This record gives sequence, structure tokens and C-alpha cells, in this order.
Amino acid sequence: MTTIADGNWLNRRIEKSKPHQDLVWKIGANDFVFSEKSGKKVTLSVSGQEMIEFMSCSYLGLEDDSRIRSAAKSSIDLYGMTFAAARTRMRPEMTTTLDNKLSQIIGAPTTTFSTVGLCHLAVLPLLGANELPSYTIKNQPHWIIDQTSHASIQVLRGILEQFGKVTRVNFQDAARLKQVISEVAKNGKTPITLSDGVGSMGGLGPVREIMTLAEEFSGYAYIDDAHGTSIMGPNGAGYAMQELGGNYHPRLILTSSLAKAFGSTGGAVSVYSAEDEEVIRKYSNPYIFGGPLAIPTVAAASAAADIHLSDEIYKLQDELNSICEYFDMKCPPDTINFESKVPIRGLFVGEEEIAIRINKELMLQGFACTVAMYPTVPFGQAMIRIALSRTHYRRDIDNLLHTFSKAVSKEGI
Ligand SMILES: Cc1ncc(COP(=O)(O)O)c(C=O)c1O
Repeated sequence: MTTIADGNWLNRRIEKSKPHQDLVWKIGANDFVFSEKSGKKVTLSVSGQEMIEFMSCSYLGLEDDSRIRSAAKSSIDLYGMTFAAARTRMRPEMTTTLDNKLSQIIGAPTTTFSTVGLCHLAVLPLLGANELPSYTIKNQPHWIIDQTSHASIQVLRGILEQFGKVTRVNFQDAARLKQVISEVAKNGKTPITLSDGVGSMGGLGPVREIMTLAEEFSGYAYIDDAHGTSIMGPNGAGYAMQELGGNYHPRLILTSSLAKAFGSTGGAVSVYSAEDEEVIRKYSNPYIFGGPLAIPTVAAASAAADIHLSDEIYKLQDELNSICEYFDMKCPPDTINFESKVPIRGLFVGEEEIAIRINKELMLQGFACTVAMYPTVPFGQAMIRIALSRTHYRRDIDNLLHTFSKAVSKEGI
């Protein structure tokens, strides 16, 4: 058995990332603090420098929508910041209204939590324990996690292992994925895949293939579509729902984020039936033992949901797509996610130190971008991560790419 003295996965990860993490903090190429914001323009607190940010995942710019802002403001006058009781005891009506609107958007019963991470923590133990009526587990679950799944899933491994074995697989390797799932089924266990819909680095999960495998081998798919929420799909139901033609699959559990393109904060989890939802509300740890979402968050999300339920969402999605297309006309051809419908691009650099220096140069020239490094991406594959929004101006994109190309030449790469 490994002891603390031998180190564990977290010690090893920190040790491997320490040199470049220390450097990026030391030279101030991350952790930008702003005092003012207008659209994509921010003013840094200490230096007063103005920057265009390509960091926020609010891809549709809904945080600036006046309807969402005023809904949040007036909710505080009604109820204050919070009603400080677990929702099983008492809650304002607006929480029901929000959950109903989200259920309508996704097309399945949906429950909200303060974060997507809490959705995972609410549902996965109940699923593993065979307590969700529509998701019967034969014998035991066997969790099959995509290697590129978000950290909020990976960190739950110890919890998942209380219910069944965990195997990590690269879901882009279709043959290997099928082989693992079929072996699990052959051993009499229920295969449960866990993966991102749209990955946080912009990759696309093989949603249709996963659902087909779930049908073939009597398994289930847990899909975290935090980055796909709002930007795609009918009524902004997300990438996974777009892939499924808007029909909620009985073997799917879907999580959505209200904190990225949706324009508020929080997470939402959808299940197949009202009976499953009832179990979550009666027995999931974060619901019964945790506090509710903050009042203005609920009000903002409810106003955002109205936009999703109208045709306006398609106009917003189209505007985002045309910004992405413009970026692709101008960016280097080796850009990660080139021509993807996902508004995340990676300007590839490779070596961590060089990427940090380039990000610092971008900062000095007025562009706030994320330098993505191990453990977010594999070691030696550092990149400048660009989050595009429908509210970016085309000239901002021109200037950013021109500055990047000059910084790259200066590095001699
Ligand atoms: C795919 C994915 N899932 C989950 C999360 C975590 O979301 P939250 O902060 O709401 O828990 C993120 C955050 O960036 C994410 O990218």
C-alpha cells in the first residue's frame, strides 16, 4: 500500500507542475485582477492598464444583458441574498420556476445546484448505489472515465470506487472504448461512462457513439456539458442535446452549467424521469445537507432561461458562430479546434516556459489570455487558450493574432 511518505497522485501532479506554475505566478502572467469592466474591456486594479479579455467562458455575453442584471437586482429587494435553509425545508417559489424552465429547455426533469461539481456529488453516489429508478444497476457499476474528463469528475474517483471499479479510457479511441465497455458487460457489471460533452479545452465528446454503446451494453452515460450549454442545441440545451437531435435519451444523465454561456452561476442536472428527480431531492447529499443557490443567481438564471426559451437564443448562437469563423479566417492553421463550432481555440506553443513568456507579452500589449499548461493539458503541450465571445470585436481578434505572431517570432519558434 502507498503511504503518505511515498507520495500520492496529487503530490506527483504538484511536483510536476510546480516549476511552471511558480513561474506564471511570479512573472504575473495570470491572476489578473480588474476594477472595471465594460463588455470585453477590463481595467486592471493596480496598474490601471486596459485589456481585452479572452478568458471568460461567457461565450454569449449574457452577463451584460440588462434583463438578466435587473432580474438579479430586483430579487435582492424581494428576498435578500439568500434564504438560508436546505431546499428540502423551505424555498422561494422562484427556485421551482427556474427548475421548471430548465426542464423545458433540456426536455427532462432538471434540478439546480450551486455548482456543476455539486451536481456530480449529488447524483453519482445515488447512481452507483442503484437508487435512481430509471437507471437500474445490474450487480455493480463499473465506471469508465474519459481521460480528458474535467477535473471535477476525476477528483471523485475515491467516491466512485466505493460503489464499483474505475477504469480510465481515451474516449477518442472508439475501438478501445467499445472493448472496455463490452468486457465490463461480459463480467456482469453495468458500464457507466463519464465524459465531457464539450471539453474545457474545446474537444468534442463522441456523444452519439457513447449512447449507442450504452444501449448495446445496457449501460448509462453521464455527460458533463458545462461548456456546451447555451452555445448549441435546441433552446440552448447544449452540444450533447444537439447531437441527440433534441431527444433526451433514457440512458443519459446530463449536467449543464449556468455559469458559462448561460449568464448566471450554478449547475443543473437532468435525469430521465420525475421519480429520479424526486430521489435526488430527497436523498442527494448537497441537496439535503447543503445550502440553496443565492437568490440573485436564481433570478438571473430564470431571466436567462426566458431568453433560451425564445428564438433570440438562435440569433445569439449565430453571432457567436460568425466570430468563431472570423477567428478561423485569421488564425494560424495549426490552431487547436480550428474550424470547430466550439468557441475555444488554442494557439499552440509547446514548451511551458515559452508559453508563459508569450502570455506575458500578450498581457503587456493589452490582451488577457489563459496560458494552458500541465495538468490542464499534457506536459510539453502548452498553449494560449482563447475563449471567444459573440461580444468580441473583429478588430480585437486581428490585434490579438498580430501580437501573438510577433511574440512567437521574438521567441524564435
Ligand atoms: C467541463 C466542466 N465541468 C465542470 C466544471 C466545474 O464547474 P463548477 O465550477 O460549476 O463546479 C467546469 C469548470 O470550468 C468545466 O469546465
